[in-house]
Amino acid sequence: MTDKMKTIPTTPFEGQKPGTSGLRKKVSVFQQPHYLENFVQSIFDSLEGFQGKILVVGGDGRYYNKTAIQTILKIAAANGFGQVLVGQNGLLSTPAASAIIRKYQAFGGIILSASHNPGGPEGDFGIKYNISNGGPAPEKITDAIYQHSQQISEYRILDVADIDLAHQGKTQIGDMIIEIIDPVTDYDSLMEELFDFKGIAALFQSGFTLRFDAMHAITGPYAKTILEDKLGAPAGTVMNGVPLEDFGGGHPDPNLTYAHDLVDIMMGDNAPQFGAASDGDGDRNMILGQRFFVTPSDSLAILAANAHLVPGYQDGIAGIARSMPTSEAADQVAQALNIDCYETPTGWKFFGNLLDAGKATLCGEESFGTGSNHIREKDGLWAVLFWLNILAVRQQSVESIVREHWAKYGRNFYSRHDYEGVDKKAAEELMENLYSTFGHHLKGQSFDGHIVEYCDDFSYIDPIDHSISTNQGMRIFFEDESRIVFRLSGTGTEGATLRVYLELFEQDTARHHLDAQEVLAELIKLAEKIAGIKKYTGRDKPSVIT
Ligand code: G1P
Ligand code: ZN
Repeated sequence: MTDKMKTIPTTPFEGQKPGTSGLRKKVSVFQQPHYLENFVQSIFDSLEGFQGKILVVGGDGRYYNKTAIQTILKIAAANGFGQVLVGQNGLLSTPAASAIIRKYQAFGGIILSASHNPGGPEGDFGIKYNISNGGPAPEKITDAIYQHSQQISEYRILDVADIDLAHQGKTQIGDMIIEIIDPVTDYDSLMEELFDFKGIAALFQSGFTLRFDAMHAITGPYAKTILEDKLGAPAGTVMNGVPLEDFGGGHPDPNLTYAHDLVDIMMGDNAPQFGAASDGDGDRNMILGQRFFVTPSDSLAILAANAHLVPGYQDGIAGIARSMPTSEAADQVAQALNIDCYETPTGWKFFGNLLDAGKATLCGEESFGTGSNHIREKDGLWAVLFWLNILAVRQQSVESIVREHWAKYGRNFYSRHDYEGVDKKAAEELMENLYSTFGHHLKGQSFDGHIVEYCDDFSYIDPIDHSISTNQGMRIFFEDESRIVFRLSGTGTEGATLRVYLELFEQDTARHHLDAQEVLAELIKLAEKIAGIKKYTGRDKPSVIT
């Protein structure tokens, strides 16, 4: 090894156990001396057999991305990686990183992102390790990273000048080759394998209009290359397409609240035919028609029901997986297709085994995450292309596709109510009360005429590795085909967030045009009555309604 390699003594750091979404902290935390170095060394200390192998590195372009990459490259070289593939200018969307890890059979990858959290010097930064299947490191590895970070006494780093990230090509530091790659090319070719690019190009050719809001985050360059350059959508189709270190001061989360630029356009008189947005690191998606919002749960079900129209899935899908709080719309489709529908706890990591084992082809969560077995992360632009492919084949509006879907399978009226930043202890007591007082004893009990059919504290046994996850949320089913789910967020940073998921299945087409909040109004009252939300949290209404 080169004489430039340095071993720097350090002390364990007060980390937090990284979730599978990695370590997310304020930028100022990562800027503390040795903080990032300690974490990166702890990642490598938790891995075995990577000597001479490939590592993929890139991030969503937020503030501190490039600085962190310089450090990571020097530590990777000192630890013995053979080659690192880095997105030009340090950019890689989360789905592209997953695709690249798989394509080049890399040992793993480091993704710099705090997903949809705001960025900039005052914002958040994050770092996450993905394994060779392209998916987030499993708990076994994240636990090991945490353990190492608590014991670390030194890290190894190469003492060399910063690497030029702006130009594609190969360089070498120590014994390690660094290849700066185009962030879009590999992802673009994967999309071209899956979707009928000719058909979609013809759709745009015919005058079809789309607005894609990249929210000044990572999908800008991907969407511009694929939608505008390749598929021929007119210039300007992609809005907010230049990734900015602070996302233009916005909150890069594609939902009705934060993607308001796009929502205003889509709800206006001159709305284009299709609208979509993606988040900070490109893994989430929101789908809109003209003055019409498609819930992520419905979107998953519709993609599944139409998958045979899309080249990459034309031979059929093996199964669908959805997180427990996601609506049961996908279950209706799975039943009709006679395939399995898996119900997993919240979080993308639970889909990994099902995808690897070929049991599920499509998966999704109500929280604007949809994906398939093409990678091991959810994929925002993929969902948009999937919709475009369906629209190209069916030549109908988004709204009429959704309404026909409801007419065929029934409509799952659905809403999520979030009580953000509530007192943590109070929220835990609320859940405790639900678990202990209600537990399994509710069956047959009537609440304002709604009779409980079944209820439990959701737990999950992974069908592949048989690992058990408990306490995944309280779910209550009523005999009238409605359901309420209560759970606490696992990703919030301030206090606790109580999420209440409300769902009512309606077969009657004559009622499908109704407003979800109105249809669910009684259930919303019932949720309050059952959980005592106001009593515990002091809140009489949610802070976010989706
Ligand atoms: C939220 C979403 C969940 C998603 C996760 C990471 O987690 O609800 O579906 O996988 O973000 O993007 P929560 O805060 O509910 O634990
Ligand atoms: Zn994300």
